[in-house]
Amino acid sequence: VKQKTVTKIDSLAYPVYIGAEPWHEIKAVVQPFLTSGGVYILTDHHTQKYCLPVLTGIIPELARQDVFSVSRGEPSKDVFNLERIWRWLMEKGAVKDSLLINLGGGVVSDLGGFAAATYKRGIRYINVPTSLIGQADAAVGGKAGINISGVKNQAGLFYDPMAVFINPSFLTTLADAHLKSGFAEIIKCAALSGNGFWEKVKYVRDLREDHLFDLIFETVNFKCDIVAADPFDQSLRKMLNFGHTVGHALESFHNLSGQPGMLHGEAVAAGMICEAYLSSKITGLPERGLEEISNIITALFELKPLENCFLDEYFKIMQYDKKKTINGIGFSLLESLGRPVMERSVDQENLKKSFDYLNHVIQK
Ligand SMILES: NC(=O)c1ccc[n+]([C@@H]2O[C@H](COP(=O)([O-])OP(=O)(O)OC[C@H]3O[C@@H](n4cnc5c(N)ncnc54)[C@H](O)[C@@H]3O)[C@@H](O)[C@H]2O)c1
Repeated sequence: VKQKTVTKIDSLAYPVYIGAEPWHEIKAVVQPFLTSGGVYILTDHHTQKYCLPVLTGIIPELARQDVFSVSRGEPSKDVFNLERIWRWLMEKGAVKDSLLINLGGGVVSDLGGFAAATYKRGIRYINVPTSLIGQADAAVGGKAGINISGVKNQAGLFYDPMAVFINPSFLTTLADAHLKSGFAEIIKCAALSGNGFWEKVKYVRDLREDHLFDLIFETVNFKCDIVAADPFDQSLRKMLNFGHTVGHALESFHNLSGQPGMLHGEAVAAGMICEAYLSSKITGLPERGLEEISNIITALFELKPLENCFLDEYFKIMQYDKKKTINGIGFSLLESLGRPVMERSVDQENLKKSFDYLNHVIQK
């Protein structure tokens, strides 16, 4: 991941910088806080080890700021850790004009964004995403949230960062499984965008190649345009849930049940195959589109078949989906690659068939 130049995306209310060395830009934002309200850094144990030294190497004053580190992984995105962060900020004297730096993956930015939004009714924060999910998705868009009793994102809010700094060189220390997991969000945006973006993505098989930088850029740019048009998820932004209705249910179930864990992106990848199938049945996605989506996902991910005995559990958890209204869950599906449709209802019979289809393609 090379690309030295830093590109600024400015379709949102805050700047999103992307490039291998957005240091000048980070310094400009952080430095004023060092001499006023102070800077507080949230990491997890991995990003404290791998990414914090990079940041303190660039801005040495940051080595003297307070750091709070949560355990790595999804279970940290809970109210227990939220309270620990509030208490840390309070005990270390964070004030209204302090800055929180979220240095980590989607767990750190979701949790830190929530903490920043609520501590003293809101302090400023920046996201410096270090995982592929963080860079391609979670760090932009202003959504923050935590899980309740293991069920995904049951408490959350919208609260924009001051700026986002995406440096793909952080990905060199990211484990392959997490790199793949993040690629699911790139596949999703490419399927929603269609045309040239989908053509670039559909044959990707080696994620460590240089083109990753370009694909992160395309994905973030695409997401920023959608979020700019619908910041509060009332219409267009819902398309970004493609794959996530089934995906979140699978992820929550695996978190809750003590089954071997499923990474967010793996769950979304499985969810996209199911929802592409549903799209072919309900909204007319042509067979070729369904095949292309299934092919790239089965080539990149080693998904495990869903066990029939858990189907009722998946359906039950889906009832907690945040898109559920009195009219049921509104699925985001595709009419074709590049033509998303939102708020489609899906009956249990088709949902069950989509799980059968998923099992069929992953066992081929
Ligand atoms: N707010 C949003 O819009 C949004 C969008 C997508 C996903 N999410 C959320 O993001 C979360 C998933 O994000 P994630 O996959 O980044 O999870 P994560 O934050 O747990 O990071 C994945 C793993 O990679 C490690 N890691 C991160 N950067 C590293 C680096 N540079 N080097 C070495 N290790 C590194 C972490 O320690 C962790 O073990 C989910 O909770 C999901 O709900 C939020």
